[in-house]
Amino acid sequence: MSGHFETNAIREHLERTSFQEHSTPLYLTSSFSFEDAEDMRASFTEEKERNIYSRFTNPNTTEFIDKICKMEGAESGYAFATGMAAVFSTFAALLDSGDHIVSARSVFGSTHTLFTKYFPKWNITTSYFDINEEEANIEAFIQPNTKILYAESPTNPGVDIIDLEMLGRIAKKHNLILVIDNCFATPYIQQPIKFGADLVIHSATKLIDGQGRVLGGITVGRSDLIREIYLFARNTGPALSPFNAWVLSKSLETLAIRVEKHCENALKVAEFLEKHPNVNWVKYPFLKSHLKYEIAKKQMKLGGNIIAFEIKGGIEAGRKFLNSIKMCSLSANLGDAKTIVTHPASTTHSKLSEADRLEVSITDGSVRVSVGLEHVDDVINDLNQALIS
Ligand SMILES: Cc1ncc(COP(=O)(O)O)c(C=O)c1O
Repeated sequence: MSGHFETNAIREHLERTSFQEHSTPLYLTSSFSFEDAEDMRASFTEEKERNIYSRFTNPNTTEFIDKICKMEGAESGYAFATGMAAVFSTFAALLDSGDHIVSARSVFGSTHTLFTKYFPKWNITTSYFDINEEEANIEAFIQPNTKILYAESPTNPGVDIIDLEMLGRIAKKHNLILVIDNCFATPYIQQPIKFGADLVIHSATKLIDGQGRVLGGITVGRSDLIREIYLFARNTGPALSPFNAWVLSKSLETLAIRVEKHCENALKVAEFLEKHPNVNWVKYPFLKSHLKYEIAKKQMKLGGNIIAFEIKGGIEAGRKFLNSIKMCSLSANLGDAKTIVTHPASTTHSKLSEADRLEVSITDGSVRVSVGLEHVDDVINDLNQALIS
């Protein structure tokens, strides 16, 4: 069926079984059985489209993939055990030894590790451009062997924004595959395919799950590229489990309403922080002070739930702030119903030099807040008491 975003998220589901269950059942099965030898042969040669083994496909993962495809406007997709499995498998399936990636420097830490530690082992190299770079300067990084153009928007943890339409233009002009990690936005807020992306990746662990329960990942987009990714994944085994797919597909039913509330709360928290005397700056896509406010407004429906801000007093003030938090959680996840605060300079990015941290917009006093669904006054009160303590 084809309705509005919210309707599809709820009404797109598997065919009912003879029990006429109202809610999609959990197909917790490793494999599927065949009628006879011919049925099995035709299934393996893909003359028949059907489930064979849950490493390849499973009804629950299919439902989850179909929903995300509809939300992103994608032709097809493959679901993974984690967001990183999606990132790794997408590159591994599409790149050959000798290929080159052009990527924004501000990418998630593990993606950066793939680019700098693992891909060079297979002679796959990466050039980084600054997220705020002009179009012509980004193009200057393109080589004859460049195959993929890659970016996140908004970025983790810097909450920087890049113009997706511009990236789409560059990719088309130079015949590159444009891959966008859309994790912070969710398909409710932003659909990169509209701006020219060939593939869109999500860590479903974040706002798609929304309650910090399961890990998951997905890549959706052009069906010829997804076919390659599917074949790679079918043989290497990073598939999403049916149970996690079932949880995530249920979560999508409430994605729109949850994300609306997350963003409403986040904007209020961002506005509060911007006025706070102990805060140097706040970065939130829908604050006018964001360097890319106009671009954020063009490509995003809402500002998301992640805020970066700088506390006055550097690393020590950051640590003190975290120690003074009472209600919010100190946790490595984000996109949860529970508000989570992290201090990247003393935790996730502590091994980087100050100069390297600055290149990805992390200062000593930077704090990242993933605003949850608690009453916003309680979130603000907790942040305030920690800021003034
Ligand atoms: C932007 C982004 N991409 C990818 C990932 C990886 O996802 P996962 O933790 O599900 O492997 C994360 C996780 O935080 C992320 O924030």
